[in-house]
Amino acid sequence: MFDDIAMLISGEAIVDGNAWLEVKMKIAILGAGYVGLVSGACFSDFGHNVVCADQDQSKIDALERGEIPIFEPGLEHVVSNNAESGRLSFTSDVDAAVKSADVVFLAVGTPSRRGDGFADLSYVHSAARTIAEAMDGYTVIVTKSTVPVGTGDEVERIIRETNPEAEFAVVSNPEFLREGAAIEDFKRPDRIVIGSDDERARAVMTEVYRPLFLNQSPLLFVSRRTAELTKYAANGFLAMKITFINEMADLCEAVGADVQEVARGIGLDNRIGSKFLNAGPGYGGSCFPKDTLALVKTAQDHESPVRLMETTVSINDNRKRAMGRRVIAACGGDVRDKTIAVLGLTFKPNTDDMRDAPSLSVIQALQDNGAIIRAYDPEGMDVASALLEDVTFAASSYDAAKDADALVIVTEWEVFRALDLVRIKSLLASPVIVDLRNIYRRSEMNKLGFTYSSIGRPNGAETT
Ligand SMILES: NC(=O)c1ccc[n+]([C@@H]2O[C@H](COP(=O)([O-])OP(=O)(O)OC[C@H]3O[C@@H](n4cnc5c(N)ncnc54)[C@H](O)[C@@H]3O)[C@@H](O)[C@H]2O)c1
Repeated sequence: MFDDIAMLISGEAIVDGNAWLEVKMKIAILGAGYVGLVSGACFSDFGHNVVCADQDQSKIDALERGEIPIFEPGLEHVVSNNAESGRLSFTSDVDAAVKSADVVFLAVGTPSRRGDGFADLSYVHSAARTIAEAMDGYTVIVTKSTVPVGTGDEVERIIRETNPEAEFAVVSNPEFLREGAAIEDFKRPDRIVIGSDDERARAVMTEVYRPLFLNQSPLLFVSRRTAELTKYAANGFLAMKITFINEMADLCEAVGADVQEVARGIGLDNRIGSKFLNAGPGYGGSCFPKDTLALVKTAQDHESPVRLMETTVSINDNRKRAMGRRVIAACGGDVRDKTIAVLGLTFKPNTDDMRDAPSLSVIQALQDNGAIIRAYDPEGMDVASALLEDVTFAASSYDAAKDADALVIVTEWEVFRALDLVRIKSLLASPVIVDLRNIYRRSEMNKLGFTYSSIGRPNGAETT
């Protein structure tokens, strides 16, 4: 296959009519989590032969039984189609997966390191050593995990040191998919960033992404360090945008304005754009909290502090707990021995991911003040039960609301947008709703007789 690639690079035509002859790649993905599994499934859907390797045997066993270990809409279908066709397989034998691959993607976790908040690169470094020992022939090693600037250099160094004879290139190809819309994002990305100065590796990456490239998705070829930083800059900017509108929401409450109208008023300006302008309980999830922190640390290490990011991180941390105080205030300043129904636990809808979910801070703040928590989430309760103590899990929104002293909407799952509010009111011991996602209209809630509080929409501000 790499002879074909060499011909591609040298300009020797591999053409079939006017079309490039397809080059099927053998791809190994290390890490079958949210990113690895989605990437593996989609690459196999493009026609490549993919093996997803994970050191977690129970995950591989589940995948081999046809079970998807995470909740991600549409993923099961793509996985089962490609597994049946033989293009997608799973293994815990990481060495064998690497040995047979032309391209190895690193999709292992890079969580915050305890103590200093820098990205924990131990999984990446250990995977790099495994690759170095197992690789056979020229291999392109692609970091899809979100890693700080310079990690590609370190991966290259580890591989050279472990296997001086190895023929390889290390490429950065950060992933921008959103959980909950991951398949769509992977197949229709706004852009694909490829960081490498190595011509052969660039040609290989072009082949890997050929269907998207033909579909007009822009492929941005940049240096490896630029690619690494681009991912952090993107997440940092989005986190800052959310934090900006959250602060505007607080200001709206102070001055009697409506943050949703402010967001619309600024979002219609193309220079600003309307996305990521929903005021709420603060950003959470598997990426923004750890990536903003890692960006701050990288910048400090390079004596080039990113103060906007530092402030964003601290505002957001304070905000999540402040949301607990907001609920307490809505309950008249005291929640001791009161039952609070919490709707939505995952950090956003359409995922079961609980990493750094705002619900964790909100619930902790309420429990610290003596509240009894009854929670419901359409997909997140299994994962949440391992993280939350002394929480009763309900079978539905209505089950959660029964005899509760207040109901809090923390995550905007579609099912919460269409609650039978008359029924909810009849079930609640007192009709208090705190809507941290602004999914209901204040005027309607007031008409129904709720004591309703939301974010950045004080009484009298709402006109629509
Ligand atoms: N989750 C997202 O929405 C998202 C989006 C873009 C980028 N990212 C980045 O992608 C990376 C992966 O994130 P995730 O959410 O998929 O993580 P995850 O925790 O869901 O999955 C990581 C997997 O890697 C496996 N693993 C660890 N070391 C391994 C090794 N040496 N060999 C084989 N498998 C190994 C783990 O068992 C785990 O299953 C992170 O750097 C993250 O920041 C995540």
